Amino acid sequence: MKKNDPAQRPVPAVDESFDPWEQVRPIPLFVVALVFALAIWGLLTYVSEYQAQRRAAEVQQARQAAPAPAAQLAAQGLDGDAAVMELVLAGKGQAWSCASCHGAAGQGGLNTPRLAGQPAEYLKKQLQDFRSGLRHNESMAYVVRALTDDDIDMVARYYAGIALPAPLQPSLGGDLARGKLLAEKGDWKTDVPACFSCHGMQGEGVAPGFPALAGQQPDYLFAQLAAWHAGERGNSPQQLMDGIARRMNPDDMRAVADYLGSLPPVPATTLVAAAPAPAP
Ligand code: HEC
Ligand code: HEC
Repeated sequence: MKKNDPAQRPVPAVDESFDPWEQVRPIPLFVVALVFALAIWGLLTYVSEYQAQRRAAEVQQARQAAPAPAAQLAAQGLDGDAAVMELVLAGKGQAWSCASCHGAAGQGGLNTPRLAGQPAEYLKKQLQDFRSGLRHNESMAYVVRALTDDDIDMVARYYAGIALPAPLQPSLGGDLARGKLLAEKGDWKTDVPACFSCHGMQGEGVAPGFPALAGQQPDYLFAQLAAWHAGERGNSPQQLMDGIARRMNPDDMRAVADYLGSLPPVPATTLVAAAPAPAP
């Protein structure tokens, strides 16, 4: 007899309860709803965690992208607390990071202004003016919509505390001698006062209200003068700048913008209550 004869193998036990024609029992509705809800919840959790992780990675990346070691960053004032660094390097909500347009050290470029070392009160006022619509700029209007009053306060103080940027090259082909004359003495024939009489004797800015012009981007300085000239920037206190810019022609604007931009940046002075003049 062959060992593997199929006829000799034992028949496996048959499951008596097995019924091939059994009805499919419907899955209760609440189970379907529960599974569905769990899936949605899982998806939402995944998406929000993914976004948070990406944001954290962006901050980390931006920090690592800064080539300088921590001590050097601190010396430049580039190491604010976590909240301000997130705003500056990663942005907030829909708003892009400040650094993506104003540069990692707030130095600006072309039509985007330098913020580094500007008086905090001046920066704060500009952000509020962009928010109220007194000063128009689409990019900045979009950015400030995402900021709270505390954010504005914090970021203005951060940029005011950053070390001054390196001096710039003239970029507009302006007449530098003419620019120097306008900055230091003004031109009484056209009724343009010396810029330094308000902006500080080296164009360094006078806190709280007068911004630094020395070391500001020439293209930006020109653009602002042109905006006042055309009546498009309306936020100067008592319209101080409106009248001055209106009396300047484009050549004078280029001259003074190139001259001021190429001056070495100097820390802003602070307006102090005038002391009584000493007797001669
Ligand atoms: C998409 C680019 C962009 C982003 C992002 C951006 N800015 Fe600006 N910012 C500009 C431009 C351009 C101007 C010049 C506006 C004009 O011509 O009136 C400006 C102007 C300013 C001014 C006025 C400066 C002055 O000298 O009057 C301040 C203050 C400022 N930005 C702060 C910030 C802060 C703080 C952030 C981040 C929260 C930020 N900006 C993000 C492009 C940007
Ligand atoms: C009577 C005082 C006064 C004089 C003189 C003056 N300015 Fe100003 N300037 C101001 C004030 C105040 C502001 C700030 C306006 C604001 O708050 O928006 C300003 C702002 C500016 C800005 C904008 C800077 C920025 O960061 O956005 C530019 C550019 C400027 N002045 C250029 C000049 C030039 C060039 C001259 C000389 C031809 C001059 N100013 C003379 C008072 C003056």
